[in-house]
Amino acid sequence: MDITSFIRVNNLSFPLFLLSTISFIFFLVKQIKSLSSKSLKNLPPGPPKLPIIGNLHQVGSKPHVSTANIAREYGPLISLRFGKQLVVIASTPEAAMGVLKTQDRFLSSRVVPTAFQQPSLLPHSLIWSECNQTWKNLRTLCQTEMFSTKALEAQSILREEKIGHMLDFLHSKQGHVINIEDVVFTTLFNTLSSIIFNKDLIDLKDDYGSRDELKATLHNVIEFGGRIIDFGSFYPILERFDLHGIRKGTMKEFLKAFSYWEGIIEERRSQVNSSTWSSEQAQSFVDRLLENGFSNNQIHQLVTELFVARTNTTTSTVVWVMSELVRHQEIMSKINDEMKREIKYDKINTSHLSKLPYLQASIKEAMRLHPPVPLLLPHMAADTCEVMGYTIPKNTKVFVNLWAMGRDPKVWDDPLSFKPERFMGSRLDFKGQDFKLLPFGSGRRMCPGLPSGMKSVEFILASLIHEFNCALPNGDDPSKLDMDNKFGIAMRREKPLKLVFKRK
Ligand code: HEM
Repeated sequence: MDITSFIRVNNLSFPLFLLSTISFIFFLVKQIKSLSSKSLKNLPPGPPKLPIIGNLHQVGSKPHVSTANIAREYGPLISLRFGKQLVVIASTPEAAMGVLKTQDRFLSSRVVPTAFQQPSLLPHSLIWSECNQTWKNLRTLCQTEMFSTKALEAQSILREEKIGHMLDFLHSKQGHVINIEDVVFTTLFNTLSSIIFNKDLIDLKDDYGSRDELKATLHNVIEFGGRIIDFGSFYPILERFDLHGIRKGTMKEFLKAFSYWEGIIEERRSQVNSSTWSSEQAQSFVDRLLENGFSNNQIHQLVTELFVARTNTTTSTVVWVMSELVRHQEIMSKINDEMKREIKYDKINTSHLSKLPYLQASIKEAMRLHPPVPLLLPHMAADTCEVMGYTIPKNTKVFVNLWAMGRDPKVWDDPLSFKPERFMGSRLDFKGQDFKLLPFGSGRRMCPGLPSGMKSVEFILASLIHEFNCALPNGDDPSKLDMDNKFGIAMRREKPLKLVFKRK
């Protein structure tokens, strides 16, 4: 067929035909040029990429598991392509060290998930900013006002009080089936809302009341944030269309959350701006933000990020540890023995926690097998650099697969068994120096909430185990407890953990 008949058969006008041909050639040249560019020559290995979609078809709903399988075949550092986005994943301690320590300076920027690409809020973000001055200022402020030793001491009274409410609630519900995730989430949420606003915002007893909407709102934000299949983020040309409604949906949830705290902020603003105000009157974190001249938008963004970062990760950790302990009654008995020895019949307080090394080892072991943030948050290469001899081009999305590392037989003996003993007498810790165990990350983007999160996890677990025996409903066999997980910003159980509590 000659060109004239091709144009006729396909119902094209000549100018349209010319335009499509030129665009196609332009596209082809660009693709060939980018594929042969120097920076793409020495990429980490990875499976073959299909045209247009790259490796998207291989990711599925559990990217931590599917990419762990790919890494087993291609090595510690792999490269994949999600549409136009180049993705590099580190899956061994050496590769993690290359990303989070050796090249931390270049690889500590962020790729912002579609849900959080909100032009009015993003400039005030702590979690999603690149390592710029805003990020530095916010981290320093949080460090002083929320995570310093002095701030943590002040928070321990609030923590003990809210955990006390949780225990009272469980005492009143003995024999009932309890969704432990709900109870722990509410307890952590109220601890943080007391730190931030000097107020409880959710009621433990009123699970279906209006305040429950706030819980649902935050869960929805997390859910939108964890959606990884989004064509806008794979093909920049589609980005502005928000094809899956993720940006719009998240903003709707943000506005609901903001409406809860707007009234409190305004009330506190009038106090802080009054002529009689002095810093000694500050009751909460928000007072400090107002004193520092924060606008409502800045406060909304930071507060929402802190709620999201704290409540879901910490809840997940408690629930995964409890799941493992329910499944392994012999380990639960050893923790009980440790408590009887160290705490006797006293009411638990913060000073007891350091005397419970076996409980602490059990928490580490659960975090090894069920890292609450299995791929860390997405890092981005601010500039081209090298890891393990491979090139990581500028703008590459970089993940560290903690799930793969925690289950690697080359890293851990008998990795799939739950054995807290492996941490007894060992100096191995999760403070970012041991690249085998990184549930909080490492380097400049490491979680600043580690001390606060761990205190809550230890205190909640110690209190539950000290006061109650717990069992699965209907006498279900604990060794058969389903341990399947659901990927998200925080990795949760696929099926909720439901328990029946009985006072000891
Ligand atoms: C057991 C509980 C927790 C776990 C497992 C956890 C884990 C993590 C992880 C893995 C990251 C990302 C590190 C990276 O991308 O390299 C992170 C970041 C962060 N976490 Fe946590 N976290 C926990 C509790 C908390 C708490 C209690 C807070 C604060 C109230 C908090 C605030 C943050 C913030 C603000 C960031 C972002 C830091 C940045 O981008 O510079 N986290 N966390």
